[in-house]
Amino acid sequence: MTSKLYKQKILILDFGSQYTQLIARRVREAQVYCEIHPFHMGTEKIKAFAPKGIILSGGPASIFDPDAPLAEKEILELGTPVLGICYGMQFLTHVLRGIVAKALDREYGNAQISILDHQDIFHGVGIEGDETVWMSHGDRIEKMPEGFEVLASSKNSPIAAMADKGRRLFGVQFHPEVAHTPSGIKIVKNFLFRVCGCEPSWTMSSFVRRTVKSLRETVGNDRVICGLSGGVDSSVTAVMLYKAIGEQLSCIFVDNGLLRRGEADEVVDLFKDHYGMDFHLMDASEYFLEKLKGVVDPEEKRKIIGHEFIAVFEKKAKELGEARYLAQGTLYPDVIESVSFKGPSATIKSHHNVGGLPETMKLELIEPLRELFKDEVRQVGVELELPRELVMRQPFPGPGLAVRILGEITPDRLEILRSADVIVQDEIRRAGFYEKVWQSFAVLLPIRTVGVMGDERTYENVVAVRVVDSLDAMTADWSRIPYEVMARISNRIINSVKGVNRVVYDISSKPPSTIEWE
Ligand code: XMP
Repeated sequence: MTSKLYKQKILILDFGSQYTQLIARRVREAQVYCEIHPFHMGTEKIKAFAPKGIILSGGPASIFDPDAPLAEKEILELGTPVLGICYGMQFLTHVLRGIVAKALDREYGNAQISILDHQDIFHGVGIEGDETVWMSHGDRIEKMPEGFEVLASSKNSPIAAMADKGRRLFGVQFHPEVAHTPSGIKIVKNFLFRVCGCEPSWTMSSFVRRTVKSLRETVGNDRVICGLSGGVDSSVTAVMLYKAIGEQLSCIFVDNGLLRRGEADEVVDLFKDHYGMDFHLMDASEYFLEKLKGVVDPEEKRKIIGHEFIAVFEKKAKELGEARYLAQGTLYPDVIESVSFKGPSATIKSHHNVGGLPETMKLELIEPLRELFKDEVRQVGVELELPRELVMRQPFPGPGLAVRILGEITPDRLEILRSADVIVQDEIRRAGFYEKVWQSFAVLLPIRTVGVMGDERTYENVVAVRVVDSLDAMTADWSRIPYEVMARISNRIINSVKGVNRVVYDISSKPPSTIEWE
């Protein structure tokens, strides 16, 4: 971590806000490297991390809670600039002996603030008049700590922003990181560049250069195995490794027979034919389908697929001989979740990752993308000149179409789903929605309904179409795609996919539904 790229970094201390990752993304968008750590990161560790600035996130707690999360007071005495957001500002106030007032009501939603001081974090902000900001807080600041002055105020929060300019401590009651605060990114940038003196040096081209170099150093003359899934993360991981170590990399791609139409061929074309990598396609489709025969329970399907995947992968890896490393496309949100101090999300998602590989295989892990957010991984993909289609590919679950065929998985039912799915993809792309939505796909239901075709009564399958908008898959809403697009999808499926006589659109959001149906 000594390279120039990481010299100017910002530390984000997490007090449990749902927006903490968003703060990090805003900082990264401003081309400054940052890391999220739990609020209790000790002062000594922070000194060793040597951030150019510290951002204290918001959080759901009240400073009056008996177990309110409190960072060490000494972090405010390091001489490092601090920006406290919402709860972070209340924490500042509390430990510096100001007065936080207990809330009678929450203030939630848009608010207008007038900015009284157009320097530092508000440089160039709110000059024309009031600024719209997003508030989501209970408690508020009643009396600022000594040395602080008011920078902005709103009707409900007379102290909407404050600073001790001498000590470079800032606090904002609102959330600059959310899109509902239009000048938010400007405020964040002002903190980074004007207050902390950072420079915008975090770019994906410099990341690629530095990572390729450090991968070479780490791997030395050893061999690395990488599992390819055809998705963005594993593809970018493989190509970056290939750039770094060439022939020392072996890629294994397991075709479990549950992929979308043409997917396996595309992966082979790119990695084997185009790049000429040491690429091993394991066609295990029949084997998987055999194992899944008669299985209808969603959890059992997932278990079988996970288990068999490991078996096939491990067998091939052993055949390939001595490798020291296993490369994985772990991303930063997974890393944050695993270190977060309270992370219910970690358990919700645990089934998504094929676990167990490194333990059983005694391989050391290499995770070149573990510092990146998804949008940064896509930029790295562009940097590495991967095809746009792949770089912008929507997420696809590990157990593949198995969790989109409700009931038993048979070759016939797979064929029906694949044909319907091609149409959904095609129409969504044509209508310009593919990159705008989070996911779009077809689901085959385990029921049949009555229809009429020509003069004949039919009794056939139902396909559900699922299109969702989401930022991180933790929450999602069904996409309001135009009726005409839905109509084209429905007409084409019913007219051309044999065995389907009804199409429905899924209008459930997550929670309480999930994105996938199983
Ligand atoms: P759910 O259905 O839980 O899905 O709302 C959230 C996101 O995760 C994807 N997903 C998976 N990804 N392995 C994966 O790699 C899995 O087993 C898996 N199950 C769901 C899903 O497509 C959505 O993007």
